[in-house]
Amino acid sequence: MIQHVKTATGGYDIHIESGLLAHAGSLLPLNRRVLVLTDDGVPAAYAAAVAAQCKSPVLVTVPMGEGSKSIARFEEILSRMLQAGFTRTDAVVAVGGGVVGDLGGFIASAYMRGVDFYNIPTTLLSQVDSSIGGKTAVNLGGIKNCVGCFYPPKGVLIDPDVLATLPPRQIAAGMAEVIKMAATFDAPFFEALEAGSLPMPAVIARALAIKARVVEADEKESGLRRVLNFGHTIGHGIESCGGLFHGECVALGMLPMCAPAVRERLLALYARYGLPTAFSGDVERVIEALSHDKKLDGACLRTVYVERVGSFAIKEEPLDVFSARVREVYAS
Ligand SMILES: NC(=O)c1ccc[n+]([C@@H]2O[C@H](COP(=O)([O-])OP(=O)(O)OC[C@H]3O[C@@H](n4cnc5c(N)ncnc54)[C@H](O)[C@@H]3O)[C@@H](O)[C@H]2O)c1
Repeated sequence: MIQHVKTATGGYDIHIESGLLAHAGSLLPLNRRVLVLTDDGVPAAYAAAVAAQCKSPVLVTVPMGEGSKSIARFEEILSRMLQAGFTRTDAVVAVGGGVVGDLGGFIASAYMRGVDFYNIPTTLLSQVDSSIGGKTAVNLGGIKNCVGCFYPPKGVLIDPDVLATLPPRQIAAGMAEVIKMAATFDAPFFEALEAGSLPMPAVIARALAIKARVVEADEKESGLRRVLNFGHTIGHGIESCGGLFHGECVALGMLPMCAPAVRERLLALYARYGLPTAFSGDVERVIEALSHDKKLDGACLRTVYVERVGSFAIKEEPLDVFSARVREVYAS
């Protein structure tokens, strides 16, 4: 299956199909020098399979984890490309999760003012979310995604088979973003998730279609795309306390941001897909972190709220009203 994403500079195709990894060379123009970027938590066979289909591959494996989204790593890999004689007509392919995709995209955007970038996401989160939309970044000074740019890929290959090696907790974290998209945009999709009636490739395709529509409407995140932040305001606060994956924090972050009837349905989905159904951490610390959140405008907080599954509204409310609801929901 192919989905197309339109961008200001043209657009790109997303190919979704089992076994695609073995056909990367027939779908992407890899007949040149290609930096194949992966991390040491991704099974080595995936990047090796892609490298084997490039005319002149340079395989770089960074340590897994958020620490690799750094300026130091960015500089080191650009230097490797320079030493290997990369020119403007060469390319970068990321084979990994959101960490490798964000880093690889940023490297591609900067090398000689931009070389072609292809993304082969291997986590559920990166397959349904981070691999499309063109956001690239590294972290700086403890601030996540502080330095980066919008640089759409030239193509995305999604092979659902690679999820077979992904730990169940990472699958659940990716499902949180899927549930987020269904909750805000697509009630029938939400119902299908409740029924567990869709195979994983169909889940990926449906979530991607929503994200594609949103980023097409708002490529540089100045309006509609903020809806994708449903659950993220509180989620970031929870994430700053440590210990939970991003998707788990987003799942918990959605709970105070919806009507009680929606919350009940979310909780049932979390139980089904292995996501946390209760927050046992320090709620006051989360609220404190939120007071410093960039979305805070004066004493009011602008957040995405879901009154009815499949729809959303931007809610602007005083911090104390918002905090009271967060305390109440997490206490129950
Ligand atoms: N650009 C965007 O729009 C966007 C959106 C959301 C998140 N992000 C970024 O994405 C990153 C998180 O991405 P993530 O959740 O994919 O985490 P990740 O890239 O850290 O991957 C999670 C772990 O899974 C391992 N892994 C990857 N694929 C595997 C596979 N198939 N089998 C076994 N192990 C595998 C990795 O080595 C890593 O240890 C964050 O840095 C976040 O900021 C970016």
